[in-house]
Amino acid sequence: MTEKTAAKTAADSTADLNARAEDCLARQDFDAARDYLDRSLQRGKTKEALRARGFIAARDGGITATGRGATWEELERTVGARVIDAAGRVVMPGFVDPHTHLCYAGERWDEFAARRSGTDYLAVLERGGGIHATVRATRDASDDELLTLLRARLDAAAVSGTTTIEVKSGYGLEPDEELRLLRVIARARAEAAIDVAPTYLAMHALPARYTEDRRVFLRDVRRTIPVVAEEGLAEAVDAFVEKGVFETEEVRPIAKSARDAGLALTLHADQLNDVGATAFAARMHARSADHVANASAEGLRALARAAIPAVLLPGSAFFVGYAAPDARRFLAAGVPVAIATDHNPGTSPLEGMPTVIALGVGLCGLTPHQAIVAATINAAHALGRGARTGALVKGRRADIVMLDPGDERELAYRLGARLVAQVYAAGRLIR
Ligand code: NIG
Ligand code: FE
Repeated sequence: MTEKTAAKTAADSTADLNARAEDCLARQDFDAARDYLDRSLQRGKTKEALRARGFIAARDGGITATGRGATWEELERTVGARVIDAAGRVVMPGFVDPHTHLCYAGERWDEFAARRSGTDYLAVLERGGGIHATVRATRDASDDELLTLLRARLDAAAVSGTTTIEVKSGYGLEPDEELRLLRVIARARAEAAIDVAPTYLAMHALPARYTEDRRVFLRDVRRTIPVVAEEGLAEAVDAFVEKGVFETEEVRPIAKSARDAGLALTLHADQLNDVGATAFAARMHARSADHVANASAEGLRALARAAIPAVLLPGSAFFVGYAAPDARRFLAAGVPVAIATDHNPGTSPLEGMPTVIALGVGLCGLTPHQAIVAATINAAHALGRGARTGALVKGRRADIVMLDPGDERELAYRLGARLVAQVYAAGRLIR
């Protein structure tokens, strides 16, 4: 019997379903894992199952056991172990936000308003505004000012239930300025209550100094990558592959330098135009392909073959005003789907994964349970952390969210409501 058929038989307990999901995840069989987790989540909402009788045991920041019923009484307790009664609330994995640009100064509501009156996003960028406006404001901010802003944004993410978050540089553009931002991110990471995955967004826009010779910029980026890797400043390298911004062939040598330095690759791919970046991401063995709102069928097939997650970012579709990626195309093609805030001052100023879950359902066509999987275990995979977090199973970090309502689908339903009651990051109560 294949895993998919197995997932359709009815009698398993929640613990069995979670264990089977874990087996599937270990084999990178995301489809079957999704089926099991979806069923496990559905069980979680019945009073007889998880809500009244389920338990999670954690120790030293990690989950040591999960189960249902009286078996929890047989658990070995350490001295001083605390019992927390969820009292009918939903208990679920902490959210993973696999794509953000949290390190910046200045806001761009003027540009947002202009776009609402018809101004084109890429035209603003070409005229030296957009990303360049944030680059100027960021350059004018001191390290300490940037750290204060970043800290506040990380705190806001944690309060909304995010326990793992990616943070990109990208508003420095010049390699030295990018290094400065990555060092600020490293300071924030060292003190953060949640897990921060830093990314060197090396090619976000061409800095003015290099307009005469793009090749010199690419050379300087290649020289910066080993420095980033040696200092442990990033886990991945990112590039904005878009019409009039950077081409796939310009990214190829950067992807090679990243690989040589032991860094992963992730791409802003086919956000506004199909430039073949999604298939390119698959060819380059990227960790994830992000945006993909205009990805071709060929791009989807390539991602599916390589089992690379697509990170859908409905926030930027909402704020820029283009059609959001249709998640059903990706699911039908067998691509693992994750979602993220893409928080940034230009295209996605929204906050919090609950908002994105609602937009993932409303704009991308995910079901509420698919959106929850996309915001937890699949998002963890998109950050190369699928074995560390994203699911409430033994051996994972105790990254746990408790919701006030008794049904997790309210996340997709009550857009804007504060539903997160408690947040534990690596077993520690942070809200
Ligand atoms: O993910 N489009 C490229 N990068 C960001 C937006 C950057 C900006 O406009 O400041 C994004 O949409
Ligand atoms: Fe982005």
